[in-house]
Amino acid sequence: MAKKVLIADNDEATSRLISSQLEKQGYEVYTASTSRNAINKALLHIPGILILDLDLPTRGGGETLKEIRSYKELRDILTLVVTTRASKEDVINAIKIGANDYVLKPLKIGTLLAKMVHWANTEMEAHWKKLKPEQEATLRLIKVTIERAVDAIKQNAPLPYEDIVSAVDVLDFAIKRDGVWDIVGAVDGYNTTMFLHSLLVAVYMHWFGGLKGFGEQDCQQMALGGLMHDLGSVLIPPALLFKPDKLDPGEYKDIKSHVGYTMDILDGLGEVPEIVRNISREHHEKLDGSGYPQGLKADDISIHGRMAAIVEAYAALTTKNVYRPTYAPTEALKMLHSPVGHLDPELIEEFARAVLSEFNPG
Ligand SMILES: [Fe+2]
Ligand SMILES: [Fe+2]
Repeated sequence: MAKKVLIADNDEATSRLISSQLEKQGYEVYTASTSRNAINKALLHIPGILILDLDLPTRGGGETLKEIRSYKELRDILTLVVTTRASKEDVINAIKIGANDYVLKPLKIGTLLAKMVHWANTEMEAHWKKLKPEQEATLRLIKVTIERAVDAIKQNAPLPYEDIVSAVDVLDFAIKRDGVWDIVGAVDGYNTTMFLHSLLVAVYMHWFGGLKGFGEQDCQQMALGGLMHDLGSVLIPPALLFKPDKLDPGEYKDIKSHVGYTMDILDGLGEVPEIVRNISREHHEKLDGSGYPQGLKADDISIHGRMAAIVEAYAALTTKNVYRPTYAPTEALKMLHSPVGHLDPELIEEFARAVLSEFNPG
């Protein structure tokens, strides 16, 4: 069932823009332009998410939310306050009366979707309780480790590199204990985030490394490369990372700069295995030289970089995201071959055969 969202905002243009974008993402959207209308519609439709203008006529967003929260059925409604006033006081007051988060106007759809994706994933995490305790513990450890790394980068603080390395030890143990597909299955249905994408690329790289006959240490370093390969994306604004529409050339250039940012982060760490550097530097390179950042060709791209490009694309295609449909494994594997000249066809074949034999054993 589609998730219901109520937008309470008297600015029609904003309301219309958000509605159409959210409907495209599969949400069921209701709108209201006054406090009374918002309260009535909330009671009528019991939405899961409320997007609320702090200046909503006639009683203001704060008072409106207070009343909405007073109804038992609406007590847990996730509320995102929208405001033109960046005043801390306003925002603190909104949080005090029960808003979960806030965004500033003019509203960027990417910023909004980033918050909603975060909420959706948090709800999905409730399913981890059904996993074996040791599996749940592994996922939580990886998540916390990635989130700490993200916070450190945002605050320009030292990256907890040793923690990431020891998280890979735990992941390595879990892969050997449960198999890669148990871990992938546990996060099935998640929206892509730094945590999810890093985890998937890490486990697939570890697995693919094993298939290719790499030794234990190399496979661990491939997993480490997977966990770290996109860390530089933290420095790209969420409005861009979660933008559902086509990017313009300037925006695409900004996205591409994540590779350079990641390499700067790795350079700041000193001793980082070459495999980790190769994966981080080359996962967007293409055999025909059309990739970035260096436009390397064929054999100039390391085997780790070529494997990472495949794994990265497979992870992206099979994960829920805001810009394109999610593809089933068989469909995604076929898509890796086009455009011709981008990814290494022999490596795709090896990867595809192994994935398919997991889904159709025998
Ligand atoms: Fe990347
Ligand atoms: Fe990536």
